[in-house]
Amino acid sequence: MNDSEGVATEILEDPIPGSGLGDGGIAGLPPTASLSAPDRVANARTLFGLDRDFDVPAYSVRTEHVPDIDTAYRFDPETTLAILAGFAFNRRVMIQGYHGTGKSSHIEQVAARLNWPCIRINLDSHISRIDLIGKDAIVLKDGRQITEFREGLLPWALQHPCALVFDEYDAGRPDVMFVIQRVLEVEGRLTLLDQNRVIRPHPGFRLFATANTVGLGDTTGLYHGTQQINQGQMDRWNIVTTLNYLPHAQETAIVLAKTGWDGRDTAQKRRVESMVALADLTRAGFIHGDISTVMSPRTVLTWAENARIFGDLGFAFRLTFLNKCDEAERQTVAEYYQRCFNEDLAAGQAAKSR
Ligand SMILES: Nc1ncnc2c1ncn2[C@@H]1O[C@H](COP(=O)(O)OP(=O)(O)O)[C@@H](O)[C@H]1O
Ligand SMILES: [Mg+2]
Repeated sequence: MNDSEGVATEILEDPIPGSGLGDGGIAGLPPTASLSAPDRVANARTLFGLDRDFDVPAYSVRTEHVPDIDTAYRFDPETTLAILAGFAFNRRVMIQGYHGTGKSSHIEQVAARLNWPCIRINLDSHISRIDLIGKDAIVLKDGRQITEFREGLLPWALQHPCALVFDEYDAGRPDVMFVIQRVLEVEGRLTLLDQNRVIRPHPGFRLFATANTVGLGDTTGLYHGTQQINQGQMDRWNIVTTLNYLPHAQETAIVLAKTGWDGRDTAQKRRVESMVALADLTRAGFIHGDISTVMSPRTVLTWAENARIFGDLGFAFRLTFLNKCDEAERQTVAEYYQRCFNEDLAAGQAAKSR
């Protein structure tokens, strides 16, 4: 494989546009580069409510790339344990599951509580190997234009104590997957041939991935654009864990916590239970082949937020989910609604009730 990088030349401000990895830090917080090694030990039982004692290294300072804490977040024990093993023992951890089930946010929220800097990168089809590795850029120095190599996200992350999360790993382009393969091994070094440089990973560097499939391609038809992941590549992930839909009660609790709705208000609680029940019906309907669009936990949350905005659950439902469904399937979905709320989702009903 040809390893030479840095062929393209472009004037760059940010190694990856929008990554925030430019020169300026986030106001008020120290830069991630100021950290060296974890200086604290966190207890998984107290921090994540896990049913076992598990010590995890952590940092005492929050730096610019540490995610914000979501206080309403509920940790799934198995997923959390897998992620913690990734942080504590430098394991490469992949989380697989349907969309909107909390894969990316689980990693981010664990990092947020360990004060571990965390950077997510979506491996959609727009990311190329040059974005990851870096390229030559024309910069001004002492009034003269010179060519300088600007590191991409991967060399930057490798040299810092930070968790790099590859989202939608199974959608990555083949050229990108080959670059990633080189750093999957814990000792994995990155060679920048044009630079005559070998980059060794920082001891605090961690690598995670989330994916909708397990690398065997899409068997459901739900995930266009996903690729099969070659076995040599899958083999290098030390831990693969699955996060699908949470139990009904837990999903209800999350929606209540996130919306700030009072769970002691029985009418309100019953309403959220019906919302989750409806989501469950779409999931069962999808598995039986009755409908082709499913409500993720993210959809339920968005529906709850929209219901607050419009003050109308049915109207919000149409705008959040029904309008995304194939027209031929809307009748089926409207029947699910009827079954859960004992009320018709008639067209125009929202307009009247407003
Ligand atoms: N366990 C949870 N507790 C609280 N909120 C959650 C939980 N799981 C998911 N969410 C919320 O659901 C939404 C979708 O989660 P996300 O991590 O983006 O899903 P995925 O990466 O699996 O597609 C986010 O707004 C997230 O905050
Ligand atoms: Mg995600």
